[in-house]
Amino acid sequence: MKSNIAVVGLQWGDEGKGKVVDLLAADMDVIARCQGGANAGHTVIVGDKKYILHLIPSGVVHPDKICYIGNGVVLDPFGLLEELEWLKKESVHFEGRIFVSSSANLVLPYHKLLDEIYEERRGGSPLGTTLRGIGPAYRDKVARCGIRLVDIYDDKILREKLEHIKTLRADIFASHQGDARCDYDSVFERVCSIREAFAPMLTNVSSEMYRLNGEGKKILFEGAQGALLDVDNGTYPYATSSNTTVGGILTGLGIGPRMVGTVIGVVKAYCTRVGAGPFPTELTDKTGEILREKGGEYGATTGRPRRTGWLDLVALQHACRINGVEQFAITKLDVLDTFETIKICMSYKIDGKLVDIFPVDPATLDKVEPIYREFPGWKTDTSSITRFGHLPNEAQNYLRFIADETGTEIKLVSTGAARAETILV
Ligand code: GDP
Ligand code: IMO
Ligand code: MG
Repeated sequence: MKSNIAVVGLQWGDEGKGKVVDLLAADMDVIARCQGGANAGHTVIVGDKKYILHLIPSGVVHPDKICYIGNGVVLDPFGLLEELEWLKKESVHFEGRIFVSSSANLVLPYHKLLDEIYEERRGGSPLGTTLRGIGPAYRDKVARCGIRLVDIYDDKILREKLEHIKTLRADIFASHQGDARCDYDSVFERVCSIREAFAPMLTNVSSEMYRLNGEGKKILFEGAQGALLDVDNGTYPYATSSNTTVGGILTGLGIGPRMVGTVIGVVKAYCTRVGAGPFPTELTDKTGEILREKGGEYGATTGRPRRTGWLDLVALQHACRINGVEQFAITKLDVLDTFETIKICMSYKIDGKLVDIFPVDPATLDKVEPIYREFPGWKTDTSSITRFGHLPNEAQNYLRFIADETGTEIKLVSTGAARAETILV
C-alpha cells in the first residue's frame, strides 16, 4: 500500500488545496512544499481561526507535523520570516518543525520590482501575476544567476553574485535609481541580517525525504497553484513559472517517482481563475456573479475577485493526464446548492469542429465554444452532510458523472470551508 500522498490542484489554483491538505495531514507525519512561492495562498480554517499560508506548508497548523520547503520553491526569505512571526502571534509553535532546502533560490526585492516592470512592459496586456517576484526569480534560476539560500552565508559569493546581477540589470533598473529594491548594498545588508534566523532551518531536503521515508514516516506533498497554470502544460504564457504538476514534486524535492505515492487532484465543483488568460467556460453574467459571491471567490494572496465559470471536463481530463491523478478531492459543492440547473462542459467547438483534447495555445482556447451538458440542481443545503449516500441524488449523480468521465475515484467531497464540512468517501 502506498502511504505517501501528493495533493495537486487541477484547475487554475485556489481549488481548496489548503483545506484538503489540512484534513489529510492529520494522518501524515511530514508535509512538503516543492514549487511555487508566496504567490500561493492556502486557506485553512480551524474552528473560528483562519490561517492563510503562502510559503509554509499547510500542515504546520497541526502541532505535531514536520514541514519542509524544497529546492524547487522560490523562497522570499523576508516573507517567510513575516509568515513565521504571524504564526507565532496565532500561537502556532513551529520551532524545530520547519526546514528549508539550502538550495532553494531566493526571491529578493529586485525580483518584485522586475515583476512590476515586466508586467508594465507587456504593452497593455499583463499576465496579472501576483507581483510576488515569482517569474523573475525562476527566470534567474534558469539563467543560472539566482542566489540560493546557501549563498547568503558567504560574503564573497553573495557580493559576487549581486555584482553580476547588477551588471546584468543595469539597463532595466536605470530609471529606478533610488528604489531600495534595486539598491544592491541594501539588499546585501538585508540578506545578511537574516542569516541567523534561517540557520536552524537549513537542510538537505532530498536526503531528509529519503531518511523519513525509510523510517516509515508518511509524507504529504503539497502542490501549489494548479495544473492549468503549469509552465509547460498549462495555458502558457498565462501560467506561473513552475511545474505545478507531479513532475514538480520530483525535481522540487529531489526524490524519485516511487516516493510520491497516491496522486490526489483537488478540483472545485466549478471553475475559477485569477489573473489574465483563456478560460473557456467563464461566465461573465449574473450566474458567474452568484458563483463568486456564494463561493467567496476573492484571492487569498492578492484579494482580487476571481473569474468564475462552469466545470470544464476537457480541461479536467488534461489535468488528470499530466498528473496521473488517481483520486479526486472535489471541493465547494455547497456553492452549487441553490442552482436550478448546473452545467458541465463536455467538449469544445473550435472553428465548427468538435474537439475533446485541451488545445495548447491561448489563441485557440479563446475561440472555444463550450458544449455543455445540463444537470438538475439539488436545491438542498449540503454543508452538514458527512456521508456520500446522504447527499441528494442529483448531487451524487453530478459527482459520479465527473468521476466516471475521467476514470478517477472520489476520495473526498468538501461541502464547506470548515474541517467538519467534509465527506470522506
Ligand atoms: P488553495 O489555494 O487551493 O488552498 O485555495 P484557497 O485557500 O486560495 O481558496 C479556497 C477558498 O475556499 C478558501 O477561502 C477556503 O476556505 C474555501 N473553501 C475550501 N473548501 C470549501 C468548500 O468546500 N466550500 C466552501 N464554501 N468554501 C471552501
Ligand atoms: P494557489 O497555490 C491562483 C496566477 C496569477 C497569475 C499567474 C502568474 O493559492 O492555488 P505568478 O505570480 O505566479 O507569476 O502569476 O498565476 N497564480 C495563482 N492563481 N492560485 C494560486 O496559487 C496562484 N499562484 C499564481 O494570478 O494569473
Ligand atoms: Mg489559493
